[in-house]
Amino acid sequence: MGITAMIRPTFHMSGIKKENGERMDNKFKKTILCIGAGYVGGPTMAMIAHKCPQYKVNVVDINPERIDQWNSDNLPIYEPGLHEIVVSARGINLFFSTDVEKGIKESDIIFVSVNTPTKTFGVGAGMAADLQYWEKTARQIRKYSDSPKIIVEKSTLPVKTAQAMERILTAKGKSVHFEVLSNPEFLAEGTAIKDLETPDRILVGSNETPEGLKAREELVKIYAEWIPRDRIVTSNIWSSELSKLVANAFLAQRISSVNAISRLCEKTDADINEVSYAIGMDSRIGNKFLNASVGFGGSCFQKDILNLVYLCRGYGLTEVADYWESVVRINDHQKESFVLNMLTAMFNTLAEKRICLLGFAFKADTGDTRETPALYIAKQLLEENAELVISDPKALENAKKDLKGVNGKITYLEDPYEAASGSHAVAIVTEWEEYRNLNYDKIYSSMQKPAFLFDGRNVVDHEKLYQIGFNVYPIGKPALTHF
Ligand code: NAD
Ligand code: UGA
Repeated sequence: MGITAMIRPTFHMSGIKKENGERMDNKFKKTILCIGAGYVGGPTMAMIAHKCPQYKVNVVDINPERIDQWNSDNLPIYEPGLHEIVVSARGINLFFSTDVEKGIKESDIIFVSVNTPTKTFGVGAGMAADLQYWEKTARQIRKYSDSPKIIVEKSTLPVKTAQAMERILTAKGKSVHFEVLSNPEFLAEGTAIKDLETPDRILVGSNETPEGLKAREELVKIYAEWIPRDRIVTSNIWSSELSKLVANAFLAQRISSVNAISRLCEKTDADINEVSYAIGMDSRIGNKFLNASVGFGGSCFQKDILNLVYLCRGYGLTEVADYWESVVRINDHQKESFVLNMLTAMFNTLAEKRICLLGFAFKADTGDTRETPALYIAKQLLEENAELVISDPKALENAKKDLKGVNGKITYLEDPYEAASGSHAVAIVTEWEEYRNLNYDKIYSSMQKPAFLFDGRNVVDHEKLYQIGFNVYPIGKPALTHF
């Protein structure tokens, strides 16, 4: 169902609307708070508010600029369908604010959805999850709470983190009861609204005590407002925490597996698309997530695998840790190979050559550039003294921030035709739909010759582009060259 066709459930509350849009009544069934208004907190809470008008949903963040954007027409993240969902509930039962203290005091249920990046300092640097933001929220919850609350871990966390949360919350001197649940989020960027509306599953982990099971049921009831019960899975809290890391590890592993085989295809005249298709028809393997690429990006795959590896090493499971770490190593290798391939194809020198990157986001339909392969590629090409032109329909602002201070000549142009004009090579880095159907005749005639096209996502018709005159370098297929 298209977002615009979605009908919001009838709102039965009889509260009076103040001029600033906030309801004055206390007739909401419960008040939910989400700490962290990012890629997960914002869309997830908007969906809950949209589907559950009987709950008041407050979303708080320490970043005032982000909150201002959530309260404006210019939302802080690009996600298809998000704007409509936000507008349907904002000012009615969905509120964005920076007042963390008030939010905590008012709430019955608190989702914690703060960032948990890879640690960059001290013990575990480059591997472990940095839990400082998460720990600060635990302490804030403890400080400001004066009534019992359910605390929901939404952030992705190492297994056993709920125990630490409980210890902070229940340390001496606090008599309020807190029940900690794990409810990891599985949405993918670019399809977040669809994923939230019709998820494959919702996972809720709890302590298996009477209080834990009661809290679990409270949360299940919220999701059951729009998700069939048989898709809401419950488990013990540690299984839930671990399942999130494992889901991301398995997904990333599939991409590294197909990317590893793409390298072999390039050496053997096999075609990775044909191989993916053939193996994907086996129902035990399945046909999703088998697209060879320039490498996976995004804020979570690498960080969550490294977190898993760190945990395994901590428990002395060296072989297990090595196994999962190789998924990240293959991903790095894929990005390196792409640049090396460009260098060797273009006569071993890129100095002063104009190279156009089509796409900078880590995947299509998002403006997010966290851990995007494009950043690695851009930096390597600049190291070779190439001149870069970067084009992307949604990610140029983030690209500028990412490359700020990096030496070299970089131009940012949204229009792909202008970006490609005068270049020696075009490299497709993000699988934006529009790149499939550009007028490549026009692009070819505006480029320097010989013209090179590196398709890091296998999105264009390689044979057709070869016929136009390009030297074409796909992923996992033999190159088509005129030399
Ligand atoms: P994000 O960086 O977009 O958002 C986190 C927000 O938390 C930021 O706006 C930050 O200002 C805020 N914050 C940090 N400390 C705070 C505090 N003490 N009080 C109030 N606000 C605070 O991160 P994200 O992408 O939304 O990810 C959040 C979590 O969800 C991570 O653990 C991530 O692994 C997980 N996750 C992310 C995705 C995704 O697609 N991005 C999907 C599933 C799970
Ligand atoms: C991923 C997971 O899919 C979500 O379930 C999870 O909730 C989320 O991480 C998270 O924990 O943050 P996301 O990173 O947003 O979601 O996007 P994906 O669609 O998984 O793509 C990740 C990367 O893999 C992208 O760079 C994408 O281009 C690449 N990819 C994906 C491939 O190279 N080949 C494929 O076949 C699929």
